[in-house]
Amino acid sequence: MWDNFSPIYIKAPLVRRATRVRACGRAGFVIIAGTQYRHLKKRETEVMTIAELAATAHGMVANHRGILAADESTGTIAKRFSSINIESTEENRRQYREMLFTAPGAADSISGVILYDETLRQKTKDGVPFPKYLADHQMIPGIKVDTGAKPLPGFPGETITEGLDGLRERLAEYYKLGARFAKWRAVIDVGSGIPTSYAIDANAGALARYAALCQEASIVPIVEPEVLMDGGHTLARCEEVTNAVLDRVFSSLFAARVQLEGMVLKPNMVIAGKKCAEKSSPEQVAEATLRTLKRQVPAAVPGIAFLSGGQSPTEATLHLSLMNAAGPLPWRLTFSYGRALQEDALKAWVGKAASFGAGQNAFSTRAKLNGLAAAGTYKSSMERPAA
Ligand code: 13P
Repeated sequence: MWDNFSPIYIKAPLVRRATRVRACGRAGFVIIAGTQYRHLKKRETEVMTIAELAATAHGMVANHRGILAADESTGTIAKRFSSINIESTEENRRQYREMLFTAPGAADSISGVILYDETLRQKTKDGVPFPKYLADHQMIPGIKVDTGAKPLPGFPGETITEGLDGLRERLAEYYKLGARFAKWRAVIDVGSGIPTSYAIDANAGALARYAALCQEASIVPIVEPEVLMDGGHTLARCEEVTNAVLDRVFSSLFAARVQLEGMVLKPNMVIAGKKCAEKSSPEQVAEATLRTLKRQVPAAVPGIAFLSGGQSPTEATLHLSLMNAAGPLPWRLTFSYGRALQEDALKAWVGKAASFGAGQNAFSTRAKLNGLAAAGTYKSSMERPAA
């Protein structure tokens, strides 16, 4: 009931010092005790923070725009660069990221960009800090804050994502540098005897603590529990594991008092493992993924932004479009792709200054097709025939 107006507090001259008079719109005034005053002030701050978080979360997933994941760690980007024989120097990484962020028309389909610590501190060649450039061009800057998936002791083949120590302080700095959302990726591998419930719980617990710390810092958490598609498992097994993982993740978020209105979920799609003999059809992927999300994701979550996880760019775009075409859905469904958004651009750029424009074109085209997929209107026939 206090959420719908902005009260004014004035000291009441005729009552105890700690007592305040609360002005209630046209209704007049109520006298409240000091403890209640402090409680209401705290509540108002919380309501404002939640409104701010919800507005950011909405901006990340609305209007058929989605997120570019450009937060590859130095090790991962080196692998991507080696596929096109480019050395991974700080300047090459800066140039590559500038090519993506400044691509003409990018902001028509890109709502936000996940950056890596190094990139958050880098600038365009004209000296504009990347977070400022993005914000000035209607793209919300975000930051990857986990420090990677490490072996889970006692559980061969399973990992726990690290990065909680000192996170409160890092988030405060990232906010000052312009980040308004963050990302934490938990990795769940599927194989014989895995995942174990212990590994799922440990990762869900870390995601929840991370998300609560983000919200405390006025940063929207992207909660990313990724069930890998690397193995030989079937689509049915992926569905079973994804259900179990999302169930634990939302229980942990609830227990940690995370406000679902101020977060974005970044899940895998439900799909057969890459080494599975039985390949999933696009329709099967769309159907199983929607079935799982409808069972597990509360409608209070404003949006779901998928990872691509090793799908080809065209597969990832088609799957997203089929799901949106099957709406209406309780949440916005969009993309937060890394590889599926960057693959075409990386190949067109090949690290040459002369191909900067070609790289930008390839990126803008793929981003635009994914924007159409977020509206459910993409068709495979829109793909350019291979040259
Ligand atoms: P992919 O789309 O390449 O899976 O990357 C998304 C991401 O941010 C992984 O954390």
